[in-house]
Amino acid sequence: MAEKESVVEQRAHNFSAGPAGLPLAVLEEVKEELLVYPGAGASVMEISHRSKAFAAIHAGAKENIQKLLKLPDNYKVLFLQGGATLQFSMIGMNFLNGGTADYVHSGSWAKKAIGEAKKHGTPRVIWSGEADNFNRMPADGDLDLDANAAYVHYCANETIQGIEFPTEPAVGGKPLICDGSSDFLSRPLDITKYAMLYAGAQKNVGPSGVAVVILRDDMLEQVPDGLPSLLDYKVMADNDSLYNTPPCWGIYIIGKTTKWLLDQGGLEGIEKINRDKAGLIYDTIDNSGGFYKGHAVKEYRSQMNVTFTLGSEELEKKFIADAAAQGLAELKGHRSVGGCRASIYNAMPKAGCEALRDFMVEFQRANG
Ligand SMILES: Cc1ncc(COP(=O)(O)O)c(C=O)c1O
Repeated sequence: MAEKESVVEQRAHNFSAGPAGLPLAVLEEVKEELLVYPGAGASVMEISHRSKAFAAIHAGAKENIQKLLKLPDNYKVLFLQGGATLQFSMIGMNFLNGGTADYVHSGSWAKKAIGEAKKHGTPRVIWSGEADNFNRMPADGDLDLDANAAYVHYCANETIQGIEFPTEPAVGGKPLICDGSSDFLSRPLDITKYAMLYAGAQKNVGPSGVAVVILRDDMLEQVPDGLPSLLDYKVMADNDSLYNTPPCWGIYIIGKTTKWLLDQGGLEGIEKINRDKAGLIYDTIDNSGGFYKGHAVKEYRSQMNVTFTLGSEELEKKFIADAAAQGLAELKGHRSVGGCRASIYNAMPKAGCEALRDFMVEFQRANG
């Protein structure tokens, strides 16, 4: 095999579900600034979170998100530790507080959110996709909404099953809380429909360990007294995420990635690119005469996580191994559902999806 020319060429097409690939342009910039952040005399990892340089990084990351989402003034952008999973608990502690809330049970991540909420009150399941093996999302009419619910929680994109809401569910004015971890900033949305939108950063916008939380101000009025400070949205909002040392590195990368998103034409621009990319793989599945079988009902196919099976587990193993040997990495489905999964978040270049399509066509020709 010819020797690889550069480090960049050694990078595989990375279909990991998360932590996932970051834009190469962002990584190159970060590499450039690793030893000395311009003007700071040290790396971003080595400067105070109260320094002027970090204050500008933090403000820049917030501003980019505000621009991308056209965020009105009555929303806060918080960067919190503990990933999206801690948000499952914080939502219960801050907004459920012994009461009831409506939860859509759409798959593995919704289930985890419901499990955490049970520790703080009564989450009512207002729709479940379990009987259909979580291959679709509900239509608005399917939701059994409760007038007394404190909020409605849903997961916009189930990363493991590969299903996505085409648009937000209609919840008749109830506060809508969304786990947007795996399709965050991948398409335009009307943020005014949300009371809260949160996302673990490690799929579309940054490294793991930081969650972006977008919270409407009126929600803060419901926060009970006495919560541990770091688990209290009011404390974190009043202190602009800086009650303690924040996840500085994560915020820095999010700033770079969101700037990159603005350069792609914002959410409208990235949505078009994402649709083209996903189309390449779904078309290959649809044109395979059943050799590849998609898991999701077409209308609810995820634009971020393409899940599919082949005729047998043995063939799937060969598919994954042969793909890896050709530089197409991490195509194994989640251990709970099996099969194959291609995660194609914002940073996956179209060339990666073209390479996967070509591989799938050739694999079918050789093994079909
Ligand atoms: C939709 C969704 N929600 C929540 C999580 C949990 O995120 P974290 O690992 O950051 O807690 C994930 C992680 O894969 C996810 O895909």
